[in-house]
Amino acid sequence: MVLVMQQLPLVCLMLLLLCKDPGVGAQRFSLHQPQDNVLVAAGETLTLNCTVSGMAVVGAVKWLKGWGSENKTIYDYRTPSSFPRVIRAVRGSDTDLTIHIRNVQPEDTGTYYCVKFTKNDRGEDVLFQRGRGTEVSVQAKPSPLIVSGPEQRVRPGESVPFTCTTGGFFPKEIGVKWFKDNVPIRAQQPQITEWKDKTYNMSSTVMVTLQKNDVPSHVTCEVQHSTLLAPLRGSFQLSRVLRVPPTVEMRAEPSSVELNTTVTFTCLMKEFYPPNVSISWLENGKEMKVKNLSRLLELSRGLFQLRSWVAVQAMEEKNGSTIACVVVHDGQAPANYSAVLWITNVAHGDLILLGLGILLEKALFGGVLYYLIKRKKSKALEMLPYPVPPHSLAPRAWSQGMATASSDV
Ligand SMILES: *[C@@H]1O[C@H](CO)[C@@H](O)[C@H](O)[C@H]1NC(C)=O
Ligand SMILES: *[C@@H]1O[C@H](CO)[C@@H](O)[C@H](O)[C@H]1NC(C)=O
Ligand SMILES: *[C@@H]1O[C@H](CO)[C@@H](O)[C@H](O)[C@H]1NC(C)=O
Ligand SMILES: *[C@@H]1O[C@H](CO)[C@@H](O)[C@H](O)[C@H]1NC(C)=O
Ligand SMILES: *[C@@H]1O[C@H](CO)[C@@H](O)[C@H](O)[C@H]1NC(C)=O
Ligand SMILES: *[C@@H]1O[C@H](CO)[C@@H](O)[C@H](O)[C@H]1NC(C)=O
Ligand SMILES: *[C@@H]1O[C@H](CO)[C@@H](O)[C@H](O)[C@H]1NC(C)=O
Ligand SMILES: *[C@@H]1O[C@H](CO)[C@@H](O)[C@H](O)[C@H]1NC(C)=O
Repeated sequence: MVLVMQQLPLVCLMLLLLCKDPGVGAQRFSLHQPQDNVLVAAGETLTLNCTVSGMAVVGAVKWLKGWGSENKTIYDYRTPSSFPRVIRAVRGSDTDLTIHIRNVQPEDTGTYYCVKFTKNDRGEDVLFQRGRGTEVSVQAKPSPLIVSGPEQRVRPGESVPFTCTTGGFFPKEIGVKWFKDNVPIRAQQPQITEWKDKTYNMSSTVMVTLQKNDVPSHVTCEVQHSTLLAPLRGSFQLSRVLRVPPTVEMRAEPSSVELNTTVTFTCLMKEFYPPNVSISWLENGKEMKVKNLSRLLELSRGLFQLRSWVAVQAMEEKNGSTIACVVVHDGQAPANYSAVLWITNVAHGDLILLGLGILLEKALFGGVLYYLIKRKKSKALEMLPYPVPPHSLAPRAWSQGMATASSDV
């Protein structure tokens, strides 16, 4: 600081001497390019300053971008109409050669030189003097964010990648944050690649484990960049990629009936998404025409519930019949839940007892329900053992099946 203060009067003195020199008409030509660096936003106007002073010299003045073999003429004062993007700041001035370049783009990034040429003996333009160069950086905003997710629907518990991309920005520094429903989540480092003309592209990936209750949720990517007043945001609705298969319960009601009366088999499909589900009923493999369907019920967190039921006459001829409810959810493999009607003879009376036990079949969420009808009256209601195939009965389901006996008053 002290140094500058001391030197300043000296510089002024030298300048004053020059200016006051009576021989100023013959002052040497001098070209001045004052800007070292200019940062300009894409789409805006770039101003490149250049002033000349002193003796007129024959030959062109041009603005060149780059030096050496890579140079490109940006403006030539003799042929202004060939450069439609450029206008002079002070039209017609012999000393202020400043130019404006309209609608600057990232590809305009580079070093610009104000150059004075002179003529050689053969009348060709040769370099006379040039400015020290102005380095132009074009700030460019990142393009709108694109957030992509898995190609196919996935089930709860699966961890899937979500990717946020943007491009065409400058400078390179960029910040990315991820949120799931406004709660920050951790992501890998974003990948930044140079795209073209000093602009960059960014890609950021986050792994998210989907949950059953994620239907109304979304993941959001938030990007911060020096060109932005407010961060850019892009969201992805998890309902687009989530598939929650239904939990199916098969029921037979009432829990005890008399022979030749109606038993209702109900298939309850709980907590599924999307709401695409089709259901059909089979009796011994033959489609049952008469089925009833409840209204599609929307539960909390965007999940759905649906009920379907069929009425079956508990006749003796139907002993051993299989009643199946086949559920197709969202184009997936059908799941088969079936019940077998058993009519058993009981020692005393003609009370008909029902019991049910659910066991898993081959189908992923399929099950078999055994529906027992006992024919004879009995005071003490003894349900065990059920005549079910011993190899296929799941223990949990078995216990579920034991609580259903009731007495005829
Ligand atoms: C550049 O030139 C314009 C027009 O003559 C002038 O207004 C401006 O002050 C100059 N800027 C610099 C940094 O010299
Ligand atoms: C600009 O490029 C041309 C053609 O490549 C070359 O002849 C000329 O010498 C270059 N001028 C400067 C100042 O680098
Ligand atoms: C870079 O981003 C731009 C603008 O968003 C896009 O057009 C271009 O395809 C991207 N390039 C690559 C290699 O991702
Ligand atoms: C049940 O119905 C069949 C014919 O539909 C009849 O033969 C039988 O006696 C009936 N049984 C009872 C217990 O009502
Ligand atoms: C469902 O299971 C029943 C009994 O096991 C069978 O008869 C029926 O063909 C099955 N249906 C489908 C679609 O798998
Ligand atoms: C099915 O619905 C129809 C009309 O909605 C009704 O008449 C019938 O009783 C229902 N069946 C069962 C088994 O609920
Ligand atoms: C879901 O239902 C809609 C409307 O009924 C249908 O266009 C679409 O194809 C279904 N999707 C699947 C996977 O079945
Ligand atoms: C129903 O079928 C089972 C198995 O085939 C048999 O044990 C039972 O006696 C049958 N019930 C009647 C009432 O015929």
